[in-house]
Amino acid sequence: MHKRKLLRTVAAAALAGSLGLALAQDNTFKVGLILPLTGPFASTGKQLEAAVRLYMAQNGDTVAGKKVVLVVKDDTGQAEITKRLAQELVTAEKVQVLAGFGLTPLAMATAPIATQSKTPMVVMAAATASITEASPYVVRTSFTVPQVVTVLADWAAKNNIHKVVTLVSDYAPGVDSETWFGQRFVALGGTVVETLRVPLRSPDFAPFLQKVRDAKPDALFTFVPAGVGTALMKQFSERGMDKAGIRVIAEGSVTDDDILDNMGDVALGVVTAHHYSAAHNSAVNKSFVEAFGKANQGARPNFMAVGGYDGMRVIYEAARASKGEGGDALLQAMKGQSFESPRGPMTIDPQTRDVVHNIYVRKVERLGGQLWNTEFQTFTAVKDPAKMGK
Ligand code: PHB
Repeated sequence: MHKRKLLRTVAAAALAGSLGLALAQDNTFKVGLILPLTGPFASTGKQLEAAVRLYMAQNGDTVAGKKVVLVVKDDTGQAEITKRLAQELVTAEKVQVLAGFGLTPLAMATAPIATQSKTPMVVMAAATASITEASPYVVRTSFTVPQVVTVLADWAAKNNIHKVVTLVSDYAPGVDSETWFGQRFVALGGTVVETLRVPLRSPDFAPFLQKVRDAKPDALFTFVPAGVGTALMKQFSERGMDKAGIRVIAEGSVTDDDILDNMGDVALGVVTAHHYSAAHNSAVNKSFVEAFGKANQGARPNFMAVGGYDGMRVIYEAARASKGEGGDALLQAMKGQSFESPRGPMTIDPQTRDVVHNIYVRKVERLGGQLWNTEFQTFTAVKDPAKMGK
């Protein structure tokens, strides 16, 4: 009798214990943030993490009555690691959302895990058009490469650029850049005389730049991912190509705000198209740039930071609407969100889950002693052209 009572008490305590645990879990909303925080693409991870933390500092860590817990993991920029970390975050940590993804292959490796586990996956950095099609659980807050390079092709064709050589990093967003810029530019009467692809890792631009020089184009069109533009521009100037009258036009990652001011005069006059410049003239952006600088020893936020900041906003608002539920309810609440970002107005297209926002044509200028991407033309509410009719 006594023994049975004891057993009952033990069982009740165990039940209460596991209930307590379940309750504790119910009271958290976990975001698994996977980023390259070391290795060649660490600048992307650092910008993004800083912006995510800024959003949380400004908006509190409670949403729908739950405590937001950020679990940050470093994938070093390698897809097998991203995939393993995503699997662990979903199964062991039971995160409600996966976020980050500094490069396209890292997002692509994770997409099947998002699908299998029905976990919304917010792509805050990677920009190849097809990423949103890799899983119905992907939502993108960065940008798409076709979205920006087609705008640049329109600008180039109207501004006395007839003959270009393209030089891109040899992986998915580079191929998107080459294809979408080239097709639009040729359709508008331009000529692409040569298409060059340079390895993504440890690129040596010299032999490629020699080919560009020999082809004597009006302009070099180029794409390299965030953080890599300094090496490219340095080698461009070392070969005297700016002096030889070859202009540079580029996907905006090349003059990324994180590194732009250290590029020196060779960057002056480089024309790019992109969705975000730290020089964007709006009250929302000014306060974002100021707050980011204050929290990060004066650092300037780049477009990666904005992708992270807006991504957190999409996650917070969705969690509020789903009352802290994950899965399909959370995904549903991400679709169609529309708000003013530091980049300008943006919407998550409810059909494609991709970002619709303004694309700006910019040129590098020295203002107040520093280099900035000055926006001088705006294409409003640009959808990803790779998804037209979808
Ligand atoms: C990408 O891998 O999709 C990517 C990374 C960095 C960029 C742009 C695209 O700046």
